[in-house]
Amino acid sequence: MKVTSIDGMGSYGVYIDGVDFEYLTDEQWREIGHIHMKSLVTIIRDCNLTCENQLGWIRKFGEPRHGLYYRLMRKYGITSLGLIVRLGLSASSPMDEEDKSVIREHIRYHQPSSEGSGVTRVSGIKDDNGRSIGLFNDGELLWHSNEAATLTFAPGVALLGGKCMVGSSTGFLQTADYYESVSESFRSELDEMVLTHRHTEGKINPALNDNMERLNMCPVDDVEIPMVIMSPGGIKGLHYPLNTVYGVRGMNKAESDSLFAEIDKHLYVDHYIYDHWYKNDGDLLLFDNSITLHRRLGNVTGRLAYRIQHDYSELQDDFWQPYFQKEFADKYKEAITDFVETLGIQSFKLPQVG
Ligand SMILES: [Fe+2]
Repeated sequence: MKVTSIDGMGSYGVYIDGVDFEYLTDEQWREIGHIHMKSLVTIIRDCNLTCENQLGWIRKFGEPRHGLYYRLMRKYGITSLGLIVRLGLSASSPMDEEDKSVIREHIRYHQPSSEGSGVTRVSGIKDDNGRSIGLFNDGELLWHSNEAATLTFAPGVALLGGKCMVGSSTGFLQTADYYESVSESFRSELDEMVLTHRHTEGKINPALNDNMERLNMCPVDDVEIPMVIMSPGGIKGLHYPLNTVYGVRGMNKAESDSLFAEIDKHLYVDHYIYDHWYKNDGDLLLFDNSITLHRRLGNVTGRLAYRIQHDYSELQDDFWQPYFQKEFADKYKEAITDFVETLGIQSFKLPQVG
């Protein structure tokens, strides 16, 4: 196993070559997990992981999870994930039609595995009825984070190439170096800053103005989330997803926009950005979703990738608190506890009570 740093991603990002999943031990995988948490973006090149085994390995980092299912379970007062899916698929159930169609769409994107559920196809390939078998079925994707406008967003993403990956790229922007580069006084201002989020059509991809994108990224408008948070690996940076960021608490729109323009000028620079143009189908990309943004460029015709969004609980010694501001730290403790208990995620390290 050879670890080399990715050129052009500042202090973060590594490639790992020579990983053989057939002979990989749990100990070696944990070591990779810890390297990943410190590097934000970890690209295991040309490996022999299959979509069948992806879930089992990622679960050793932490469980997959989707805010979408949590919100539906709360809305209908149902404590079984299986039951909410069955209600969504049943024509006669009392669930709202809009929610049924979201569940059906999500299930259509689901890649079955003997290890359970949690793998979502990302693809524009069509099934026999002419419907795409995956999420984000067309075009380039602009800078974004997944579940961007949710306090309890899933912090990690594992994207495995399937086929026709060459000709496209997955790109990353890490915000940690920028955060460290600003003056101490501006850093303190950023530390106190609270962002408001809204869904705006076309912010990820003008061709993808669907309900699923809104529900995944920004189910509720005007949610507030601090600008500066801590990644699962203990790195401070900006939670600044361009797909949903709308304004700054206490500022009018013009003031917010001019502040964003000033930040963008120094943040969206080559030094912090790396676009990984695939040279193989079998790359496994592990990336942080807390203080790192991602995008997609290039041609996606025939492309198929497998995505898991997940926690890092199995690699953490205790509860991960992303928020520094007391108001949000308290809110997060309450929200994530309810989230984890509702979904029944056993391995999650919840905060100590008291
Ligand atoms: Fe994404």
